[in-house]
Amino acid sequence: MKKARMILNKEFTIAPIDPRIYSSFIEHLGRAVYGGIYEPDHPKADAQGFREDVAQLVKDLNVPLVRYPGGNFVSGFNWEDSVGPVEKRPHRLDLAWFTTETNEVGLHEFDHWLKKAGSEMMYAINLGTRGVDAARNVVEYANHPGGSYWSDLRIKNGAKDPLNIKLWCLGNEMDGPWQMGHKPATEYGRLAAEAAKVMKWVDPSIELVACGSSHSEMPTFGTWEMEMLEECYEHVDYVSLHRYYGNPTNDTPGFLARSMDMDEFIHTVISICDAIKGKKRSKKTLNLSFDEWNVWYHSRQQDEEIWKQDRWGKALPILEDIYNFEDALLCGSILLSFLRRADRVKIACMAQLVNVIAPIMTRNGGGAWAQTIYWPLYHCSKYGRGTSLRAVVDTPTYDCSDYKDVPVVDAHATMDEAGELTIFAVNRDMKEDAELTVNLGGFEGLSKVQHILLHHDDVKAINTEENPDNVSPVEVPAGTLVDGKLKVKLPAISWNVIRMTR
Ligand code: AHR
Repeated sequence: MKKARMILNKEFTIAPIDPRIYSSFIEHLGRAVYGGIYEPDHPKADAQGFREDVAQLVKDLNVPLVRYPGGNFVSGFNWEDSVGPVEKRPHRLDLAWFTTETNEVGLHEFDHWLKKAGSEMMYAINLGTRGVDAARNVVEYANHPGGSYWSDLRIKNGAKDPLNIKLWCLGNEMDGPWQMGHKPATEYGRLAAEAAKVMKWVDPSIELVACGSSHSEMPTFGTWEMEMLEECYEHVDYVSLHRYYGNPTNDTPGFLARSMDMDEFIHTVISICDAIKGKKRSKKTLNLSFDEWNVWYHSRQQDEEIWKQDRWGKALPILEDIYNFEDALLCGSILLSFLRRADRVKIACMAQLVNVIAPIMTRNGGGAWAQTIYWPLYHCSKYGRGTSLRAVVDTPTYDCSDYKDVPVVDAHATMDEAGELTIFAVNRDMKEDAELTVNLGGFEGLSKVQHILLHHDDVKAINTEENPDNVSPVEVPAGTLVDGKLKVKLPAISWNVIRMTR
C-alpha cells in the first residue's frame, strides 16, 4: 500500500471559496437547450416546455451560475432575436455550429428555467459581429428598472422586474480564428474596454469578464492576455480561461496528470494579470473566471459525420461525449486545482451542463441521467463550501509522458462555516491503494468520519439510461480519527470525499 500524509491546521487557510467555482454553462448548441432542458412534448415538461426531471438534476448539482447563451454561438447572435413573441422570432443560421437556431427559447424563457433550476445567469454578449451599442442595450433591457426604451420593452415582454444579471462575459474566445469576428488582442482589448465602460454606465453594479486565451496552447497565449489587458485592465473584473482535455492515446496515468497543466495555466494567467497591474501601478487586482473546462474528445469524430449528413439541422446530437470513470477522476482533480487557487479563481464553469459535453444526459422523450463527471462536481458543490485550507501533502509521485513528479494522491481540504472539515482526494495509482494519514491542528470536537467513494474497476466504465448508477458514489467504512490523527484508505484509482463532523 502506498502511503501519503497531509497536514491541516484550522488557522492556515488560503481564502474563502467563491461558490461560483461550481458553475456551469449552457450554449445554444446541439441538444443542450432543445431536447435537453427544453422539450415541450416530453411527459415531464412544465407549462413552458422545460423538463422537470432535468431541472431537478441541475438543482441537485447546486450550480450557482449558468453561463449563457454561448460559447462560439454568441459571436454571431443578435440578442434582440431572443425576446418578444416567439412566433415572430427569426430562424437564423448559426455559423458557429452549422445548425439552425429557432430562438424558441430566449432570454425570458431561460430566466424562467434558471429559477426552476435554482441558479443565476452569467450572460455573454456578442463582441464578434456586434459591438458597443448592442452591449449597452442588452444591459438596459435586462437590468434597468423601467422608463427607457429597452427596459420598457422588457416589461412589455412580461418581466416587470429587472432580470438583474450581475455577471457578464465580454464576448467569447476572441483570440480564436474560428470565432466569428475574431480580432487581434489590441483591437479586442479596446472594444472590450469601450463595451465595459458603457455597460457599467448603464448598471454600475455589474461585473465583467474579459476574454483570455481559448486555451494555453494557443500560439498567442500570454501575449494575448498582455496586449488585451493593456487596453481594458481598469474596466474589467475577471479574465477568462478555457481548457478541455482528452485521452486519445489511451494513456490513463498521463491523462490523470493533466490537472497539472491546469495549475500551470492558472499560475501563468495570475502572473500576467499581476504584471500588468504592476506596470499600470493599478490598485485593482484581477481575478480569474475559468468559464469553460472539461474533458472533450469522445464525440469529435462522430460530429463530423453528423455535419456531413445534416448541415443546418436543428438540435443535432453533436458534442455528446459519453464520459467514463477516468474522466470523472480528472474532473475531480481539476476542481481541486480551483480550490487550491481559491484566492484568485472566483468563477469556474464546467462546460457544459446538459447533453453537450455534459454531466447530465437526456433522451428525447425518455429519461435523464447523471454521467460519471456529475459526481465530483456534485460533491465539491455540496461539501466544498466555506474556506479553502492550506493543505500540505506529502505523497509518492510518478512520471508520465508529459509530466514528472505527478502526485499519486491529489488531495485538498475545505472547512465549512460550522468548522467541519472535508478532504477531497484522488488516488491516481491504477493498482495500489494508498493510506492517507492526516494530522489535524485546531479541529477539536470533530469526531464523526464519513467516507464517500467513487470507484469502478474499469476506468472506461460509463453510465447509461439503462444503467445510470454504474459509476456512482457509495458510502464505505470510514477510517479512524484518534487524537487529531485521521487514517483513511484511498482505494486504487478512486475519488474520495472524507467528511469530519461533530
Ligand atoms: O463548449 C463548446 C465550445 O468550446 C464553446 O462554444 C467554445 O467557447 C469553446 O471552444
